[in-house]
Amino acid sequence: MAPVGATLRSIAHSGLDEHDRLEFGMSSPIFTSWQPEHAALWGNVPLRLKHRLHQHELFSRPALARLIEAAPKSNYMLIETGRPNERKLWREGEIGQLDGAGVIEAIDNGRIWLNLLRVNEIDPRYGKLLDEIFAELEGRVPGLKTFKRINGILISSPRAQVYYHFDTAGQTLWQIAGSKRVYLYPPAPPFLTPESLENVILYNNETGIRYETWYDEYATALELKAGDMAQWPLNMPHRIENDDELSVSMTIEYFTTDIRRRMFVNGANGILREKLKLNPARNVSGPAFWAKTAMYAAAAKGGLLTRERNKRRPITFQLDRDFLARPSPATSGQPELEAVPQAGPAAHVAGDD
Ligand SMILES: [Fe+2]
Repeated sequence: MAPVGATLRSIAHSGLDEHDRLEFGMSSPIFTSWQPEHAALWGNVPLRLKHRLHQHELFSRPALARLIEAAPKSNYMLIETGRPNERKLWREGEIGQLDGAGVIEAIDNGRIWLNLLRVNEIDPRYGKLLDEIFAELEGRVPGLKTFKRINGILISSPRAQVYYHFDTAGQTLWQIAGSKRVYLYPPAPPFLTPESLENVILYNNETGIRYETWYDEYATALELKAGDMAQWPLNMPHRIENDDELSVSMTIEYFTTDIRRRMFVNGANGILREKLKLNPARNVSGPAFWAKTAMYAAAAKGGLLTRERNKRRPITFQLDRDFLARPSPATSGQPELEAVPQAGPAAHVAGDD
C-alpha cells in the first residue's frame, strides 16, 4: 500500500514517481474536486465528488473483459430481470462459454446485472488501487481509519434499476461509464425501521424493506456521470436508475470501528427480536453491547446466517450465445427494465468470520 505521506506528497507535487504511475496508472490525486469542508461532511451527508478512475487503464473495456474471464463463480453474481408487464423475474445465472467481451455485449443488449464481487481478490491490481484510494482518503479525513475494504464492479444494462435497499457497511459508488441517478432517503422510520435493519444484517435480504413512491418527495437525488462518485451516511436507503446506456460502476465497501459495532448490535437485536420475541435496546457500548457481540459472532460461526442466506440464491440460467440471440429491448419495442435488487459487495458481510 502506498503510504499516506507519499500520497499526500504526490497531491502536493501533483505526481507519483514513474514506478507508481506505471503500477497504478495514476499520476495525480484520485479525488479531483476535494475541498477542505468535505472532510467534515464525509459520512454525514450525501456527497458527490469528482474522481479520475474512469480514465484508469484497469477500467478500460479490454481490462474489464479480462477481469470477467478471470472471475470464478464465487466472485460474481449475474442477474437477469423481467419486464414490467410480464411476471416478475429475478433469476441468477452463470456466464457459461461467453468471453468477457461477449458478456459485456450481452449486458449492453439485455436486461442483466453483472456484479463482480471482491475484484481485489480476483486481480491484485484492483486491490492496490483500493489501497491507494484509502491512503488518499484517510489522509484527507482526520480520524478516518478503515478496514475490511473490498471493491466490486457492477456492469448493468441500459435503463436498469436497483431496488430500494440499504447497505450495512460504509459505501462509496464510483461511476466509470454511462450515467445514473441515485435517490437517497433518510435512514429513519418510515424509510428505514429497526426491524428491516436487523433483517438485512441477519439474512442479507437487501430488498426486504418497504418502499412507497411518496418516499421520493423526501429523497436527495444525485446525478452520476463518468468521473463522479457518491458517498452517503451509513444505512441510508437508496435506489438507482440507469440512463439509457450501458453502465459501469465501482462500489467500495469498508468498515470502521463504529460501523462494525452498529452491525453487531443490530444483528444481535435481530436474533433477540426474531427468536426470543424481545424488543431490544440499541446501545453500542457497555455489557449489553459485548453480550450482543458474542451472540452475533456465535450465530455467524455456527453457520446459521450462511444457511439462511444461501436459501435465497438459486442458479437458474447460463449466459451463452443463445442468450445473445434473443431480441433486445431496443429492437423489440419492449418497455423499460424492471427494477432488480442490488447485490452489492455486501454479499460479503464483515463480522461473519
Ligand atoms: Fe447499495
